[in-house]
Amino acid sequence: MTDLVVVGSGFFGLTVAEQMAGQGRKVLVIDRRDHIGGNAYSEADPATGIEVHRYGAHLFHTSNERVWEYVNRFTTFTSYVHRVYTTHRGEVFPMPINLGTINQFFRSAHGPDAARALVREQAAELDGRKPQNLDEQGVSLIGRPLYEAFIQGYTAKQWQTDPRELPASIIARLPVRYTYDNRYFNDTHEGLPTDGYTAWLERMADHPNIEVRLATDFFDPSQPVHKDAVVGQVPVVYTGPVDRYFDDAEGSLSWRTLDFEREVLPVGDFQGAPVMNYADTEVPYTRILEFRHFHPERDYPDDRTVIVREYSRFAERADEPYYPVNTSEDRERLTRYRDLMKGEQDVHFGGRLGTYQYLDMHMAIGSALSMVDNKLTP
Ligand code: FDA
Repeated sequence: MTDLVVVGSGFFGLTVAEQMAGQGRKVLVIDRRDHIGGNAYSEADPATGIEVHRYGAHLFHTSNERVWEYVNRFTTFTSYVHRVYTTHRGEVFPMPINLGTINQFFRSAHGPDAARALVREQAAELDGRKPQNLDEQGVSLIGRPLYEAFIQGYTAKQWQTDPRELPASIIARLPVRYTYDNRYFNDTHEGLPTDGYTAWLERMADHPNIEVRLATDFFDPSQPVHKDAVVGQVPVVYTGPVDRYFDDAEGSLSWRTLDFEREVLPVGDFQGAPVMNYADTEVPYTRILEFRHFHPERDYPDDRTVIVREYSRFAERADEPYYPVNTSEDRERLTRYRDLMKGEQDVHFGGRLGTYQYLDMHMAIGSALSMVDNKLTP
């Protein structure tokens, strides 16, 4: 007897399953992939043993105390602190844009006030006119020189589109730090799971009341547990794409996807940092990840390293959906899908695909905990 079917074994689905199982409910988790964990899944690279995040770099960070306490039940965290660098015209700069970036770029030694005044002056170029596109928006936020060096080319590659053709609304703000602090996240807690993401995710699913069935698609009628067989019979938490659930009845929602090109190199250290962005359009990829640097405390080989080049583009139907594009058309469609959701009896939509929004891991976990409190066990 199953009390709840959870579609998707990512952080959202597993948090719901773990919480409900802890309250004595029998939970069946299905996933169409052949592994658990959704996009946070990681694996040891076979040639080197270096842990690779298969679906892109995953850094855990949160200021939510409830989530922090919850995740610490399943894993400890290393003291890793995320820092990113960017290469522009053959020179490496610290990111996000900070006093170090500004002084290196302008060959200056400004203090915080002088740097602030410089950026303000350069950002005044539009003279109060409302930005008409992403290019103008960028200039109005941080001035043309910094925008063109660090944001314009990178954004063009992310969207495969000239930023003059993109809406201003894509960038609401571009944080500039007037200190030398180049810590990437501002959260209270940050770190990487000591023995990897997959060990963490497996511990969440390790409960006598949880059964996980992999390689099982909710829309495959040949499977015993599929949409038509369970909806209306058993409560369902659905964390797959919302448009797919309704057979694209209101049209498809648009996503960006990423292509990852993995390579093992015969060197102990390729770039000296976990993430190097490439700001210029002449380089086709957006960044290179070097996974050994996520775990400097581990005993990895000193003569080989794993790098992954990341390319970004609009997703086609068969691609993995990664980041919602969120055009005004998408938002209208989403509103119509939300109306359809209300008509589904005992089906709860959650997670990044089920709600069509970018969620960090701590947000997915936090929102799953709220769903359990407010909807599943009110
Ligand atoms: P998730 O996508 O993980 O899981 C959904 C699951 O549903 C998948 O396993 C899928 O196979 C399954 N599914 C879909 N359709 C199905 C069907 N029809 N039948 C059965 N199963 C189905 N966050 C963060 O905090 N720090 C970071 O550094 C990053 N980095 C990052 C990089 C990239 C490239 C991306 C795309 C995302 C991140 N994230 C992140 C976000 C993180 O990946 C996200 O928070 C979690 O994946 C959300 O978990 P969900 O369970 O919502 O979705």
